[in-house]
Amino acid sequence: MVIVMAPDASSDNIASIVDLVASAGGEAYVTRGVSRTIIGLVGDVQRFATLDLRALPGVADVLHISAPYKLVSRENTAERSVVRVAGVPIGGDHMTVIAGPCAVETPEQTLEAALMARRAGASLLRGGAYKPRTSPYAFQGLGEAGLKILSDVRDETGLPVVTEVVDASDVELVASYADMLQIGTRNMQNFALLQAAGEAGKPVLLKRGMSATIEEWLMAAEYIAQRGNLDIVLCERGIRTFEKATRNTLDISAVPVAQSLSHLPVIVDPSHSGGKRDLVLPLSRAAIAVGADGIIVDVHPAPETALCDGPQALTEADLDALAHLVDTLPALVGRTLTAVP
Ligand code: E4P
Ligand code: PEP
Repeated sequence: MVIVMAPDASSDNIASIVDLVASAGGEAYVTRGVSRTIIGLVGDVQRFATLDLRALPGVADVLHISAPYKLVSRENTAERSVVRVAGVPIGGDHMTVIAGPCAVETPEQTLEAALMARRAGASLLRGGAYKPRTSPYAFQGLGEAGLKILSDVRDETGLPVVTEVVDASDVELVASYADMLQIGTRNMQNFALLQAAGEAGKPVLLKRGMSATIEEWLMAAEYIAQRGNLDIVLCERGIRTFEKATRNTLDISAVPVAQSLSHLPVIVDPSHSGGKRDLVLPLSRAAIAVGADGIIVDVHPAPETALCDGPQALTEADLDALAHLVDTLPALVGRTLTAVP
């Protein structure tokens, strides 16, 4: 059950509902959005029905949502959400490009990659300081030193930073540098991490688990939303199938399906899905054409020396083609490329 508060509801109105629900043995999770506050209720629905919640001061509506995910469900919010990352919009009529190195390696490499990202039309910089690697012997990222580099590069280029956090105990630290927290495919069901990210006060980019159904992905988003944060962007990044010609199989149909089930913006990662440089442009084209709210792309000034995922990184030579694509295709599907800050 979800209570939708009126735009002019006061903090006292909200506090009395939380108290009333607690006195009925339930829990109330308050999520403050840009235009309205919603309260998700957990507990005995029949008992809640006796409370006459709709008549309480400040309440606009009480919704019974049939989907197992409530706060992120489109049943709760029919209009599609726009998430702002340090002012940069994702969702609505926008098509937003996020680009940068897979991993932060050095200040020079990160700055060069950020300048490449800008040239390709990106309005947000990606880059991992904490890398979730298959092998414990592979480069794990620079940690806080990498976050400092990202922060310096943001100052130099004006591009807000999206960076991954892999452990709940690092959320506060990463959030103190990042403009948006990324939760990767391997951690999509790390519930403690999802909850910590939901409390961090920063927008969250939630990648789909490589073996997760769309419903499991939306339930993971619900964990973040339930902690009071509805600034969530979903990212389809390819799933595990029998096919070995690509690193993962981009589930392009997941974009319209997730958009029909949830009000959250949905973007696509053409780099980690295909796993090959030559596939990044065709998959980006497919993502924009299908109606994705954005793409997140790996770029690197010298992919042959990259410490992570070099084969999928775009080079200098690929930038004009990506810039042309994101400049021309969004308009054909009713979108406008988010301006480079
Ligand atoms: C990238 O960003 C991930 O850390 C990377 O794709 C992990 O893959 P690998 O460790 O199997 O190379
Ligand atoms: C990444 O984008 O850096 C990353 C690790 O991606 P994924 O979680 O999709 O593998």
